[in-house]
Amino acid sequence: MKTILEAVNLTKRYEDNQTALNGISFRVNEGEIFTMLGGNGAGKTTTINLFLNLIEPTEGEALINGVSSHKDPLEAKKYVSYVSENVMLYNNFTAYQNLDYFARLCGRTSLTKDDYRNVLLRVGLQEEAHNKKLKTYSKGMRQKCGIAIAIIKNAPAVILDEPTSGLDPKAGFEFIKLLETLRDEGKAILMSTHDIFRAKEISTTIGIMNRGNLVMQKPASDLAGEDLEKLYLEYMAGEYVS
Ligand SMILES: Nc1ncnc2c1ncn2[C@@H]1O[C@H](COP(=O)(O)OP(=O)(O)O)[C@@H](O)[C@H]1O
Ligand SMILES: [Mg+2]
Repeated sequence: MKTILEAVNLTKRYEDNQTALNGISFRVNEGEIFTMLGGNGAGKTTTINLFLNLIEPTEGEALINGVSSHKDPLEAKKYVSYVSENVMLYNNFTAYQNLDYFARLCGRTSLTKDDYRNVLLRVGLQEEAHNKKLKTYSKGMRQKCGIAIAIIKNAPAVILDEPTSGLDPKAGFEFIKLLETLRDEGKAILMSTHDIFRAKEISTTIGIMNRGNLVMQKPASDLAGEDLEKLYLEYMAGEYVS
């Protein structure tokens, strides 16, 4: 199976010598979901920001489809969609207009209104919402719109930072189901979450982070009979320092 996302000894130290990320390595192949669990400040967002080239690594690198995100950021960005309700959606645009804008931005100029309609229906946005401005959307609807944009871009990798935080249980469930369909279509998905139970259901690999270290990395299938919450708390209590 092809590796799409790879962290190689990924390290981030800030000027005050604070180590936000301490040499972590992992791979995410096609059709896999790698989920990062960990408390606040563990280094999850730092990891994601390094893949997106929002910050530069101190050591190591983040590769997307084999391309280094900080050495060749424009090329690397072609292969990844970042789903964030805050960063990329235009509030004064409707869902259609948002999709159309991003489709053109990534060079997909031949898509029709019908294509947009189908994608929006696929992510569970009802017809009557398609022509409403995003500022009238709930958080769950915005997240769905974000996924619709990722589907339109059709990049092999999808990255999400706490995508279900702030969603009600039903919206969170629907969103996780959507990620499952992307996984099954072969996308490589990297996400962070605090939702241990859902993480276990849909992930291929679970990573537990603590103070910048990836303290556990296991296939979800190995954790089938385990109480992941208990395991998580044990790792958190482990005072792990490398
Ligand atoms: N600009 C910055 N300068 C210094 N330290 C930072 C900066 N940004 C993040 N950090 C530190 O990096 C660590 C990891 O943060 P983060 O990746 O946001 O954690 P998480 O997403 O797991 O909650 C934290 O200790 C945080 O304080
Ligand atoms: Mg974070």
